[in-house]
Amino acid sequence: MASEIHRASTTAPVNIAVIKYWGKRDPKLNLPTNSSLSVTLSQSDLRTHTTASCSPTYTHDELILNGSSQDVSGARTQACFRELRTLRKQLETTNPSLPALSSMPLKIVSENNFPTAAGLASSAAGFAALVRSIANLYELPASPTELSRIARQGSGSACRSLFGGYVGWEQGSQPDGSDSLAFEVAPASHWPTMRAVILVVSAAKKGVSSTTGMQTTVATSSLFPVRANDTVPRRMAEMQTAIQERDFESFAKLTMMDSNSFHATCLDTWPPIFYLNDVSRAAIKAVEAINHAAGKIVAAYTFDAGPNAVVYFEEENEGIVAGALRKLVGEKEGWKGEAKSDDAVVEKVVKEA
Ligand code: DP6
Repeated sequence: MASEIHRASTTAPVNIAVIKYWGKRDPKLNLPTNSSLSVTLSQSDLRTHTTASCSPTYTHDELILNGSSQDVSGARTQACFRELRTLRKQLETTNPSLPALSSMPLKIVSENNFPTAAGLASSAAGFAALVRSIANLYELPASPTELSRIARQGSGSACRSLFGGYVGWEQGSQPDGSDSLAFEVAPASHWPTMRAVILVVSAAKKGVSSTTGMQTTVATSSLFPVRANDTVPRRMAEMQTAIQERDFESFAKLTMMDSNSFHATCLDTWPPIFYLNDVSRAAIKAVEAINHAAGKIVAAYTFDAGPNAVVYFEEENEGIVAGALRKLVGEKEGWKGEAKSDDAVVEKVVKEA
């Protein structure tokens, strides 16, 4: 039938790294200079919803994000399409009765329910959802690990959004990237008391993209080699132990130190890159005050390539942590301490427009 349309949908969650990916050893394949580790905000409403369809009636590949048409000619999107089509083609070759979806144009329709490119890892959820929706459409028997290899080529951090819970991304050593894959460190159920609050300091698009920023850092920062070759490998191991042992104080200290290390290399980049702003720094101080008042570490901040803070804490400390952060935003001129809570897992405090 000439008018047939094949369709499949999926959603993928945002992940927030506690050991950051920053630096590529191969920009084409998105192979990183260090391993990284993230927490998937799986129970939150920060997700990308994507529907992939294909039809012989379509004239060209198309990607629509939040209602507007995107350029699909970029190498990253093309790499994902190519890899997935190759896997589908293999299925069609072994089973000729299958419809020839691999030769039909694709239409991908994606919606984020959070600000795009505001340092909220939108590309991570976006490419993870894109890859899985096409894999579902093509009925590929691919594991999350195999899909992570493909999603990585769309955006590095996307490979970690194919798993829930605590997820590592092994940097690997193969030049073709076949061993640069995501892996599960622990499922979310391993640490059911873990919570995260997100302070949306700014929903504006970030100034320096991750891709450009990390390339400049690798090329110019003298702190960077120490971070990539010494600091991060050590902390990756310590972080996995902290997670296995549900040792919040170690998890939190490593998270904060790694965020600071990453932003230090940004400042050490030439020309310097600033992702944190005054409100971000106020959030750091507020977390320090919370921990000081508690007499132990009960909260951890981390910042990606943008000013928004993600603060991790355990359920039992929700009152003191959320209360202090709400006070912080309440005190800022022009800020509204408007908290939206879903199951107390993720709370967004949004700047008044
Ligand atoms: C600071 O995955 O967005 O969020 O591979 O160039 O698309 P590309 O970069 P991207 O970088 C994320 C950087 C980070 C840290 C992290 O998520 O690990």
